[in-house]
Amino acid sequence: MPVVAYVDGEFFTDISQAKVSIEDRGYQFGDGVYEVIRSYDGKLFGTQEHMARLDRSLKEIELDLPPGMDIDAVTAVAREALARSTFASALIYIQVSRGTVPRDHSIPEESRSTLVVTVRPFTPATQEVWETGLAAITLPDQRWLRCDIKTVNLLANVLAITKARRMGFQEAILIREGVGVTECSRNNLFIVKDGLCLTAPRSNWILTGITRNFVLRLLAENNIPYEETFFDKGALLAADEVFLTGTGNEVMPITKIDEQLINEGQPGPLTRRIAELFREFVQKSI
Ligand code: PDD
Repeated sequence: MPVVAYVDGEFFTDISQAKVSIEDRGYQFGDGVYEVIRSYDGKLFGTQEHMARLDRSLKEIELDLPPGMDIDAVTAVAREALARSTFASALIYIQVSRGTVPRDHSIPEESRSTLVVTVRPFTPATQEVWETGLAAITLPDQRWLRCDIKTVNLLANVLAITKARRMGFQEAILIREGVGVTECSRNNLFIVKDGLCLTAPRSNWILTGITRNFVLRLLAENNIPYEETFFDKGALLAADEVFLTGTGNEVMPITKIDEQLINEGQPGPLTRRIAELFREFVQKSI
């Protein structure tokens, strides 16, 4: 699969040539943050929002961009990488890690951050897959307490999605003890009950998804009632409709949870409407 990569000022068309030191703190400690942006028709979508979240993640872990770079410079690299790739539909991965220093846990007094960007072609789910919807399994949320930071530490997410897939499901819905349903391993989650949409509130328990935020804005603009609140597994299984949101999946129905069908295994009417509103919004925005 063709890929364009960028490492600290240099572009590569052969990803095997794009390398970072074994002493990079991203590799040794998971000491880094990232973003994933989607392109449509060769244009980045939600750039400002993704870059604002990257900026926030950087600040939350006291991480600087490489010397001489600001967020606009990172955006310019992402745009150039996409242009070089010539892909119309792509996922642009941007990672900043704390750079290469001899291994010691505490944040070094001085380090030069590493910026890595990759661009891969992206094929969205077919309409047939969308109409079938996804099957998700509920699992305990075993992540740390700062899920609002988009850190490269994704081990709990990795283990959750792996377990889900091995059991024949396409997503894992995470449930935090004493909190409720938080989100999925790689997507945010919404339920619909009696015409009301519910999703977990912005908090340290979830990643505040860019797609989630756009969906909330569309709900408000279209007078579709919603609440940002935690709900429990009982409410999840009793929902009329369930859907997830994320950069790659956009708005995707979940039609089966554990062994139970949702809306008789069909995407629900509100999910359909919101997915349509989101697609229109993307076309207007790019
Ligand atoms: N995942 N929640 C988690 C835990 C995520 O990792 C993601 C994104 C989302 C959705 O956020 P957004 O709408 O901004 O894509 C929610 C990305 C795509 C990934 O790790 O590949």
